[in-house]
Amino acid sequence: MTLTLNSPCDMHLHLRDGAMLENVAPLSSAQFAAAVIMPNLLPPVCTTSEALDYQARIRAVCGESFLPLMSLFFGAHLTKDEIAAAKQAGIRLTKLYPQGVTTNSDKGVSAILCEQNLQIFEMLQDAGMILCIHSETNGFVLEREHSFLPIFVEIARNFPRLTIIMEHISDARSLKFVESFPNTFGTITLHHLLFTLDDLLGSALNPHLFCKPCVKLPRDMRALRRVAFSGNPKFCFGSDSAPHLRTHKECAQCGAGVFSAPVALPALAELFENHGALQSLSAFVCENAPRIYGFTPPQKVVRLRKARFDVAAEYGGVVSLFAGKSLSWILCD
Ligand code: DOR
Ligand code: ZN
Repeated sequence: MTLTLNSPCDMHLHLRDGAMLENVAPLSSAQFAAAVIMPNLLPPVCTTSEALDYQARIRAVCGESFLPLMSLFFGAHLTKDEIAAAKQAGIRLTKLYPQGVTTNSDKGVSAILCEQNLQIFEMLQDAGMILCIHSETNGFVLEREHSFLPIFVEIARNFPRLTIIMEHISDARSLKFVESFPNTFGTITLHHLLFTLDDLLGSALNPHLFCKPCVKLPRDMRALRRVAFSGNPKFCFGSDSAPHLRTHKECAQCGAGVFSAPVALPALAELFENHGALQSLSAFVCENAPRIYGFTPPQKVVRLRKARFDVAAEYGGVVSLFAGKSLSWILCD
């Protein structure tokens, strides 16, 4: 039995830089035609020229059959000229991190709805850019996404021609807000479809499932599954695969991030199949994203076959989801 996917896309991916980039990027480019590349490097990717340099480093590793859709770190540096330069270079995405909510977000935004940011939103809207948001506050950890909703709604209402993406939705209560505005959409990760707090800390603490936003309650996971399994056109796949070295996960001060790149499509296929939803996988990973973001991915036919996939214990010092376990779908060569 085989499964054919036409140009699957990962709309939220951390590739890092240097040796880590070389280690992890091929795992994604083997499965996906395109991916949205997160800008939270140290220092962050703020300008068009930095993004183009980073894109060239990614292309040097992945080749031309993989389209890295670059994003600029949101901030005061997004002047009218900088936004025009981005558009000119084919960069249409900016990523807003509230300050301090996740890995490498120290340079994020502290007062999201301040006058200066409202002007930037206006310029982004006029330029036809896309605003991707890490939608969390600094509040109580299980309520962080929910307590961000008033800010999300304010931006969505006031900038109705700006396409806004709520990244890595984790809370069932976010879904109806994303659905209720014509200009808002959401990405959903593999780990939020698979796990709850019980998996993270119900028995022995599993640092490899620690991420932001954190995995939540069974009812949240079920609601996310419902929208993904129905192929709902407002939502698409964004893995948020975020590699950290094992030494940075299995320690005190464990970094936030789940590394899922090696298993993304096989694990999605297994999950969708187990729930009788295989017919919606293509909408979720192939069709919805190009329509939402308005881009054409390179032609890439990706085939999976029903066969045992033994997931490696480590990928260059990084522990993947399902490390040392096996999945029932494998990527064809
Ligand atoms: O868990 C996370 N890890 N969430 C993010 O938003 C960032 C990411 C990372 O960069 O490691
Ligand atoms: Zn992320």
